[in-house]
Amino acid sequence: MATAVLAYSGGLDTSCAIAWLKEDYGYDEVVAVLVDVGQDADFEPAIARGYAAGADDVVLVDRTDAFAAEQVAKALLTNALYEGKYPLVSALSRPVIAEAVAEIALELGAEAVVHGCTGKGNDQLRFELAFKARYPGVKVIAPLRDRIWTRDEEIAYAEERGIPVEAKPTSPYSIDDNLLGRAVEAGTLEDPWLAPPEEAFALTSAPAVAPEAADVVIGFEHGLPVSLDGEELTLAELVAALNAQAGAYGIGRIDMIENRAIGIKSRELYEAPAALVLIEAHRALEDLVLTKGELDAKRELEPKWAKLVYDGLWFSPLRFALDAFVAVTQEVVTGDVRVTLAPGAATVTGRRSPNALYAETLASYGVGETFPHAAAEGFIAIAALETELAAARARKLQPA
Ligand code: ARG
Repeated sequence: MATAVLAYSGGLDTSCAIAWLKEDYGYDEVVAVLVDVGQDADFEPAIARGYAAGADDVVLVDRTDAFAAEQVAKALLTNALYEGKYPLVSALSRPVIAEAVAEIALELGAEAVVHGCTGKGNDQLRFELAFKARYPGVKVIAPLRDRIWTRDEEIAYAEERGIPVEAKPTSPYSIDDNLLGRAVEAGTLEDPWLAPPEEAFALTSAPAVAPEAADVVIGFEHGLPVSLDGEELTLAELVAALNAQAGAYGIGRIDMIENRAIGIKSRELYEAPAALVLIEAHRALEDLVLTKGELDAKRELEPKWAKLVYDGLWFSPLRFALDAFVAVTQEVVTGDVRVTLAPGAATVTGRRSPNALYAETLASYGVGETFPHAAAEGFIAIAALETELAAARARKLQPA
């Protein structure tokens, strides 16, 4: 008996995929795996829809804490922003979803694993690379890449088979969300000149209706945020709380043109208030405790890590190696950062750490400072040697 295990979202595409896998691809058994990564979803109707579409089993797996502890934590330690802007919301969730699907497929000895991505996006890469890393040799099926369906065709197909189609008017956008934030594409956003309409946002309010500015103190231990205003929280709790708190100020909205792995540009809208605030705060703490050389190397590697994960290489030797470097730097990254939340902006206004390399006695312009002024003279004499030699040579070579 041939079994296929599907990464199931509960939406129309992957619901129809269950029926296609039986009717068009000839599978006897289809297991739909719904992975909870903190998305805003109704799981009960999604599970019922899966069975209505013909799934032999619909398995709900909660991986929210694993997602926080692994992908979200590592992205925050690395200050990961793809193209300097996008905190990898969707890119981070794919490996954890694919891993859960591959584990179940392996257990069942399934012939194939299946995802609902099209051929135009990045997610197909992320799913397939992760499937292959976790279940080497497995066959991968992408029904929505094999055949392009219009939404109306899908609805008709679902209705014929008694697959319940969501009654509420469907959003004009393509949305993906999880604990870390939300990604919104398509609809009127396809015109890069048009401003994002307010209705496209769900996690953030318009800055115009934000509350009065307020401070929040974020406590870090070994690079990870562990408390908000002194209250200790798990990473998943802290991200959820800060998304709500900073989101109310309209902080964390990203409107960008992004370069996809498959070679096209797309207009993307993201909401990730906690990620942006935490990355700002974490960088500020690193500035206080890491050496100039560590910072220099780390800031150079951070965008490489972000690109690697964006491109689907979560399970790759290079990512493991970069994480090992990051982990060593984070041993001393403990302390507090104060961030002022104001309409549309989060600003770091204070940082402190028992491990600071910042020394007020060296930096101060006040009395009692201990900087070795006399030593500066010799330091500069040596630092200037090469410049002086080059300048003398230039003068010699100048035509008279
Ligand atoms: N472009 C983003 C990425 O590649 C988001 C994709 C999420 N999918 C969606 N249907 N909005 O990570």
